[in-house]
Amino acid sequence: MTPQTLADCQALDQQDPLRAMRNLFQLPEGVIYLDGNSLGVLPKATPSRVAQAVAQEWGTDLIKSWNTAGWFQLPLKVGNKIARLIGAQDDEVVAADSTSINLFKVLSAALSIAKADHPQENIILSERTNFPTALYIAEALCKERGYQLKLVEAEDLHEALQNDVAVLMLTHVNYRTGAMLNMKEVTAAAHTVGALTVWDLAHSAGAVPVDLTGAQADFAVGCGYKYLNGGPGAPAFVWVNPKHTNRFWQPLTGWWGHAAPFEFTPDYKPAAGITRYQCGTQPILSLTALDTGLDVFLEAEPLGGMKVLRQKSLALTRLFMQLVNTQLADHGFGIATPEQDQERGSQVSLTRSEGAYAIVQALIARGVIGDFRAGDGQQHPDILRFGLTPLYIGYADVWHAVRHLKEVMDTQEWQQARFSQKHAVT
Ligand SMILES: Cc1ncc(COP(=O)(O)O)c(C=O)c1O
Repeated sequence: MTPQTLADCQALDQQDPLRAMRNLFQLPEGVIYLDGNSLGVLPKATPSRVAQAVAQEWGTDLIKSWNTAGWFQLPLKVGNKIARLIGAQDDEVVAADSTSINLFKVLSAALSIAKADHPQENIILSERTNFPTALYIAEALCKERGYQLKLVEAEDLHEALQNDVAVLMLTHVNYRTGAMLNMKEVTAAAHTVGALTVWDLAHSAGAVPVDLTGAQADFAVGCGYKYLNGGPGAPAFVWVNPKHTNRFWQPLTGWWGHAAPFEFTPDYKPAAGITRYQCGTQPILSLTALDTGLDVFLEAEPLGGMKVLRQKSLALTRLFMQLVNTQLADHGFGIATPEQDQERGSQVSLTRSEGAYAIVQALIARGVIGDFRAGDGQQHPDILRFGLTPLYIGYADVWHAVRHLKEVMDTQEWQQARFSQKHAVT
């Protein structure tokens, strides 16, 4: 049953099997943090672990730490922890570089495979509201390789999936609306027309159950700093279906992807497996933070892991939408996030024809942190975005967040001039 009152929400928090997980995070006093889909909260274990890596591994052990502290193997070790969350096997995922860079690697490799197997195909197909970095990377690659980037609305994807499509590149959970695609169905449809799939899991890894193996997907990338709580600019990750991994070089053929980097040979021989998707030296301190952030998910495993996280995430997003519908009915909000459970990720996105940015700023001033994503002034409206991370957000938090939103609207607080001042990062 959906809670009707604050007391109902507090009772649900009491019964929550994941209640103790919140204590693993350093949540600032007086803040309701609904932006873990953009930058995850600091796990309490991270500062001392990173301090140890600085003082002991770097400060004392110095270069020996590449061997003694396992620095060299860290990208694969972290990759193995991520693999458990996305339906991949051991040694199929590597944590490295940024999502944008990994997109470049996998998209290039996918085009090389497509060229060999289906030379007549000349389209990369994607969603118009895919995260722009993916579209920019694809646009540049298309220019270089003589492909065409075709962008359609989500509802037109199936129709656009024709025999000329070489690669279907999609974000599993849309960053604007939180709408989630059915990875298995979409991948199967792509394969039917001979297209490969590239999935961006930035808003999926650690947020919703993902089964790359079960979906027979081809390539995937994702972020370390969102739901995986790796910290600002944390390394991203990359997965390649083992049937493709050794077929082609990825284009950034740095020495960390070499079969024997410490032989220092002048010619490039790619390592077998996902190791070849590394390029150069990785940021060990950031990888250490990500490694520690991922341990939270290992601690959640005995409590039911992603299955229980998903149940709570759905309950939180459902509650948020229901409260907006009942308590803010007269304030001009729309809900861009799908109502159907199987169609949404772990965020709720609201729309409003006017004032979306200022309303988000007014909420932030009250300690309710969400974010704003600009629309195009036409078909795609401005978005007020609220990420609901079940590891550290509770039902009462949702209640209070919507109460604050109602107060911001009832008092017209958002119309104060200071809330319209645009910052560089929204
Ligand atoms: C879907 C998606 N892909 C990629 C990125 C970012 O990529 P990068 O870490 O390379 O900046 C984001 C950032 O918000 C995102 O939402």
